[in-house]
Formats: sequence, C-alpha cells, structure tokens
Amino acid sequence: MTNPAAAALIARSNRLGADPKNTNYAGGNTSAKGTETDPVTGEPVELLWVKGSGGDLGTLTESGLAVLRLDRMRSLVDVYPGIEREDEMVAAFDYCLHGKGGAAPSIDTAMHGLVDAAHVDHLHPDSGIAIATAADGEALTKEIYGDKVVWVPWRRPGFQLGLDIAEIKAQNPQSIGCILGGHGITAWGDTSEEAEANSLWIIDTAASYIADNSKAEPFGPALDGYAALPDAERRARAAALAPTIRGIASADRPMVGHFTDADVVLDFLAAAEHPRLAALGTSCPDHFLRTKVKPLVLDLPPTASVEDSIARLHELAVAYREDYQGYYDRNAVADSPAIRGKDPLIVLVPGVGMFSFGKDKQTARVAGEFYVNAINVMRGAEGLSSYAPIDEAEKFRIEYWALEEAKLQRMPKPKPLATRVAFVTGAASGIGKATAAKLAAEGACVVIADLSLEKAQEAAAELGGSDVAVGVQVDVSDEAAVQAAVDAAVLAFGGVDLIVNNAGLSLSRSLLETTERDWDLQHDVMAKGSFLVAKATAKVMIEQQMGGDIVYISSKNSIFAGPNNVAYGAAKADQAHQVRLLAAELGEHGIKVNGVNPDGVVAGSGIFASGWGANRAAVYGVEEKDLGKFYAQRTILKREVLPDHIANAVFVLCGPELTHTTGLHIPVDAGVAAAFLR
Ligand SMILES: NC(=O)c1ccc[n+]([C@@H]2O[C@H](COP(=O)([O-])OP(=O)(O)OC[C@H]3O[C@@H](n4cnc5c(N)ncnc54)[C@H](O)[C@@H]3O)[C@@H](O)[C@H]2O)c1
Ligand SMILES: [Zn+2]
Repeated sequence: MTNPAAAALIARSNRLGADPKNTNYAGGNTSAKGTETDPVTGEPVELLWVKGSGGDLGTLTESGLAVLRLDRMRSLVDVYPGIEREDEMVAAFDYCLHGKGGAAPSIDTAMHGLVDAAHVDHLHPDSGIAIATAADGEALTKEIYGDKVVWVPWRRPGFQLGLDIAEIKAQNPQSIGCILGGHGITAWGDTSEEAEANSLWIIDTAASYIADNSKAEPFGPALDGYAALPDAERRARAAALAPTIRGIASADRPMVGHFTDADVVLDFLAAAEHPRLAALGTSCPDHFLRTKVKPLVLDLPPTASVEDSIARLHELAVAYREDYQGYYDRNAVADSPAIRGKDPLIVLVPGVGMFSFGKDKQTARVAGEFYVNAINVMRGAEGLSSYAPIDEAEKFRIEYWALEEAKLQRMPKPKPLATRVAFVTGAASGIGKATAAKLAAEGACVVIADLSLEKAQEAAAELGGSDVAVGVQVDVSDEAAVQAAVDAAVLAFGGVDLIVNNAGLSLSRSLLETTERDWDLQHDVMAKGSFLVAKATAKVMIEQQMGGDIVYISSKNSIFAGPNNVAYGAAKADQAHQVRLLAAELGEHGIKVNGVNPDGVVAGSGIFASGWGANRAAVYGVEEKDLGKFYAQRTILKREVLPDHIANAVFVLCGPELTHTTGLHIPVDAGVAAAFLR
C-alpha cells in the first residue's frame, strides 16, 4: 500500500506538472518525508520519497519515485568530501535506498533530503526563472517577496547546493522557499498542501509582478520587414526551407525535426533584440541540455528569397559549427567527454518559425517547447531588468558533466530506423499499412499518405500518437496534391528519407475489354503516381544531403505475362523500370532505389476485396475465400504470402544491413519460377 505521504506527493506532483506555467516538461522534482515500519526491525523508519531521475511530474507514478532512508541519506553530510568531489555523492545515494529503492535517485536528491521540511518542490517555472536570470535578480527577489523567499546565487545542482539551501532554510525560519540564481525555484512546507501552495504562490507572484512592472516592449521595437508571413505563405516557406535546415542539423548525426510557428516564437523573431538575446543562450540547465547553449538564427527577413535564405543558412551553419568547436575548446579539460556534435538543435527563421531537432520526434518536440520556455524567461527578465544567464564555463560544465555523460551512455541502443522519416503511399490498407507498421516498429517516423484523410489518420492513430505517425490526404496522380502531402510530411518530421511507392489498384481485363479509362487510371496511379512522388521527395532528399531510400511495390506482373492484365501489368513494368532508371540517376546523392515484387497477397488487400479477388477466383475456379490458399499451392514454397512478408522485405531494403544495394527487385511471392529475375 502506498504510504499516505507518498500518495500526497504523487497527487501534488501530477497537479503541478499538469500546468506548463509551473515547470517545463520533465523538469523539476518533488519529495515527501514520512514514516513506515521497517520490515527488518519492526521499528518505525523515516523515509524520503523523491522523484527519480528522468520522468515528468505531470505523469509521475509510484514507480517514478526513489525511496531512501532519511537517517542514512543525512549521514552523508559527515562523509561529504567537499565541493570538488561532490559528484561522488550520487553513487553514495545507492547505499541509502530503502527496500529495492524504486527509481534511480537524481542529482537533486540532496536538496530534498537535507532541507528540513516534510515536503519540498523544486521547479523550473518561466516566471521564476525570469527573476532567477535577471541581472539584478537578488534585489528583485527582495522587492517581490520580502523575506519570505531567499535568493541563492547560481550553483550547479549537486550536494553542495542541497547543503546551501538547507542552511538558508535554517537561517531564515520565516522563509517558504528560494529563487535559485540562473536556474529555478525551490519551495517547502510542513504538509503537502502547504508546499504546493507555497510553490504556486512564488510562481504566480513572480508572474503578476512581471505583468505589472514589465516595460512595454521587452524584446525591443518591431524590426522592419520581420513581421510574420501570412499563414499559407509561412507554411510554404517553412516547407521549402525545412530540408536544408534538417540537413544542417544532421551534419554530425541524423535528426528528426519539429516545426512550430506559434505566436510566441514569431513575436520574438519580429523584435529588434532577438539576435542579441538568442546569442546569450538559454540558462536553466534543463533548457540548454535539450536546446544546446544557443540556437542558429537566420539573419535575413522573410522577404528574402528562398534561394538567398538557403545560401545564407549554409553559411551560418559553418559559422555555428566553428563557434561550437570554439566553445568546446575554450572550456574542455583533460577528462571532459568528447565533443558530442556541433550542429544546432534549434534553428530560428524570422517571419516563419522555429525548427527543433532530436534523436526522435518526442525529443525534437520537447526541445522546441524548451526554447519557448527560454523565450518566456528572456521576456520576463528583459521586461524587468536585463537577461543575464549563467556564464559559458558553467554551461559547459553542465553540458559535459560526467554524470550527464553517464546518463547518455546508459541510453538504450536506438532502433535500426531511428531518425528516419518514412513516407508510405496507399498506407491506409493492405501492404502499405503493414509496411507503415513495420517501419514504425523499427523506429521510423511514418507519414501515411492515402486517398482518404480519415482512413490515413485512423491508420496513423493505430501506430501511436503524432510522435510516431501522421496521416495525410493524397491522390498520387495529382502533382499539386503530392506536393502538398510531401510538404505536410516535411512539416511534421522535418523532412523525409524513406519513400515507399505503394499506392495502387488493379483491374483485371482482357485487351478488348480494357477501356482507355482503365488504362489511364492504372497508369496515372502507379506509373505516373510513383514518378510524381519520387520527384517531389527526391528534391527534399537531395536538399537534405542525408541520402535516402525509395522502394517501389511493383509486382510479379511487372515481368510475368499473366492473363487479362494488359493495363495493370504494363503499369507495373513501368514502375519496375523506374526503379532502375532512378537507381542510376539518384545514386550520386546517396539515394538507393529498389523494389519488391509481391504476388498473391490476398489477406488484408483492398485490391482483392474489391472485385479483383472474385474475378481471379472465377478465373481459377475456386471459392474467393480460398484464394489465398490456392495461390499458396501454386508457389514453390507452398506458402501463403501476407502483407507482413512484403513489409519485411521493404525493411530489409532500407534497413541497416543492405547498404550497398540499389536497382534491385526482391520477389516476395513464395517462389514463382515464371517470375524469377534474370
Ligand atoms: N495484393 C497483391 O497481391 C499485390 C501483388 C503485387 C503488387 N501489389 C501492389 O501492392 C500495392 C498495394 O496493394 P494492396 O494489395 O495492399 O492494395 P490495397 O487496395 O489494400 O491498398 C492500396 C491503397 O492504395 C490507395 N490508393 C489507391 N489509389 C490511390 C491514389 N490515387 N492516391 C493515393 N492512394 C491511392 C488505396 O486507397 C489503398 O489504401 C499496389 O501497388 C499493388 O499493385 C499487390
Ligand atoms: Zn533544476
């Protein structure tokens, strides 16, 4: 049974974490102290429950809490070797755990354990950090809170900061919390209700003080020509720049992107002070670990042409990488971890919006959220005073902290298709749907493009939320519709790099029965459709300079002359030759082009369900429901081919093993000698 103190802590944490004004995503931590019976001695034992490393307050559950024995945790004070070796204390927390100990104790555990209060909250509210990063933060803290809240000068999170805050509480019995310079807030209370009320009071008092006292234009006057572009133009410009920007962010390692054109970003970028402030960088350790110390800012107005903007972005990327190398070289010491990559994680484009990057979509999205936090912090600090983040050397110590490095090293190995953005046409049904599911399961972000938006979105929802898959509407035979769908994909995940030309339909007719419309429809969807999709996506991939894959779902019928099949078979042969033509043409950009030749995939196939199956069954003189088995008996392996088998072949073609193969078709037909490739 959950201890009542821990239960109150979880409820309070969930309430605090649910409102973004209180703390950033996964930022901050909370704790409670209470008594339980020690199962070993039968005596009461005092415990500390504290949010463990990682995880978010809003969704905290009991398994996210570390549980420590308070007496042992506090005994660490006696063996603490001093600030130079404070990091060693994190390992010592493991010797204070009660029972199995729950989640891994975080670096902030000392602050929670040492402060003499039953309930403690440490949070990263934008309003509080605005005071914490104001040049005269100490004076502002006095002015805003009197002696109820105490200023603590910047100190890196750790055991010493815990000791400092415990001392401050002891020296200031009237205080309810403190502002941690450059960082955030900590509040306490004898009960969970009191701690929560004190946290909220500190946060809300700062926010209303800023609202009442801020200068009118904290970011300076509007910059001529930097106003946001109108909606449609803005999205089109974002889509046109996104591939270049994703390529820049991925020079050292491939990244997934997130785009936002929220007002808070556009307003910041439209004001005169944005270049100076962006260069100062973020301050709260949580913020800049996700955003890098500073963003890359395009220094052209949205009135500049796309070509000029792209050229300038490439220049700025070179400068950014040099600057980051300089930052590393200035600050690294002998035992610093190796440099982790010099590319920006945040790219700001005035009038257009913000691109943020990460190893997966969620990380990219959260990086963007954190930069919005940073903008809010800068607005508050500049409104009252001037924004003065912690200095570069301190940022470096945090970014390349041995404990942070250890956390990164503990991360699970990424899935084989992590960071890749797949665009699968006709993915609301059959083979396309199975392929989308396989690619997502192997770590790709997936765009499901199909005729019906509703069905595409349904299929995407089955794969998880929008961090995994999104559905878009497309008629692949319509060039403008293809461009719109590719733009939507690029805005959803930053770009595309794994294209599956799968959309198709099949009408089984003899030559004399085949109408001009039958011919055109099948050639429009399959031959022309995959050409249009290849063209629009290859442009993106060439601009990204990250290579890529195009996989065609052709057919056994691309080489096999089956009965009553002139339009379908010819369209499939056209697709199959596109594979070879494009493999030859796109190789210089690192883009591989391959195909899969399925046959007889009855289960799940819309093609078979909508008449083709009945027709085939009639042709072969079997019942429609037995068609799959019938096809199986025709094969060499006597196995039925399912959509998953095609999906597996797509994965192999674009996965990590087959890196040196292009222009190939893999038959997935359980063996049909007449369709052997030669
Ligand atoms: N099922 C098989 O045995 C088999 C064999 C060889 C090749 N193929 C090929 O595999 C692909 C998928 O077939 P399936 O059996 O999964 O069929 P399916 O009907 O289940 O799926 C095809 C999807 O393509 C979509 N689509 C059709 N026209 C479109 C357009 N203009 N724009 C966008 N989307 C469009 C449909 O809405 C549907 O969701 C097709 O290219 C087909 O020719 C299938
Ligand atoms: Zn913190």
